[in-house]
Amino acid sequence: MTNNFEDFKIKDLPFLNKNLKRIDKAIIESLPPKNFSKISKAIHYSVLNGGKRIRPQLVLLMAEALKVDVNPKTIALMAASGELIHSYSLIHDDLPSMDDDDYRRGKLSCHKKFDEATAILAGDAIQPLALEILTTIKDKKLKPEQKLKIINLFAKACGPRGMVEGQSRDLAAEGKKIKLKDLDKIHHLKTGKLIEACVESICVLREGLSKKDMEAFLIFARKFGLAFQIKDDILDVIGVEKKIGKPLNSDAQKNKATYPAIIGLKASQERAEKLCLDALKILSTLPYNTENLAKLSKFIILRDK
Ligand code: IPE
Ligand code: IPE
Ligand code: MG
Ligand code: MG
Ligand code: MG
Repeated sequence: MTNNFEDFKIKDLPFLNKNLKRIDKAIIESLPPKNFSKISKAIHYSVLNGGKRIRPQLVLLMAEALKVDVNPKTIALMAASGELIHSYSLIHDDLPSMDDDDYRRGKLSCHKKFDEATAILAGDAIQPLALEILTTIKDKKLKPEQKLKIINLFAKACGPRGMVEGQSRDLAAEGKKIKLKDLDKIHHLKTGKLIEACVESICVLREGLSKKDMEAFLIFARKFGLAFQIKDDILDVIGVEKKIGKPLNSDAQKNKATYPAIIGLKASQERAEKLCLDALKILSTLPYNTENLAKLSKFIILRDK
């Protein structure tokens, strides 16, 4: 493998499109019908709108790599759950009291399309829905203790020791000069934790997974999550608005603590690439077919959206 990722081609990722259909089907089946209420209209608007679906892709690719022995529907519902938590976080992240962004995934943000109360409630609704979906999985191959652990992992990832704390620290860091190590912690909490839950929840399903391999997958997820958020910070500066679907320079305008703001663009891209190389190295040591996970890892740092 070359250090500069020259061998990587987007056309190497047809499996992502195939997975996308499965992910969106599970999400749609989990949502209340669009015409059920004002809030469900806002939910459909904000969830079914062309996100990259990286977190559910991770769930599916992990399940494929570990060849976990549960019903395929269980995996699809876990993937949907991860995406619903993420979608909730985006709706709230865009609110005026948070990042105050008017565009998301190329369309008006939820609070702009509807109103603030509707956006708050739509987010409020899909966070517990993500957990409800997990509680209602019917699968004889899924042991009750495995189900409980998966719910625990997703709940913890978005709770007061996870994403919420990351979002709070992210807001508190606005306009401040913070140390890189503190930024890493913010990124880990606000973005990394959910990504790690997607990976760990599949590890839970693999009978006989050694402690060593489990830890390797978790370190992989940690590197992946940080690389993903660094690339997000970079795209806020050098992305193309039409492609990223959200306002450019939003971070700089709010004096956000980001990788480019603290160490500059070049060092940020280098850090993302180093994290990706570390992630790839970890995958290559594992006795599983991690080829597509490796491709997804390259995609997240070379992406333009
Ligand atoms: C954006 O996430 C917010 C972060 C946590 C970095 P994504 O880049 O995954 O957004 P979508 O889901 O593709 O819109
Ligand atoms: C968002 O990070 C993290 C969560 C939503 C938990 P950002 O604020 O950087 O995400 P974007 O750039 O608005 O998508
Ligand atoms: Mg934010
Ligand atoms: Mg934001
Ligand atoms: Mg961002």
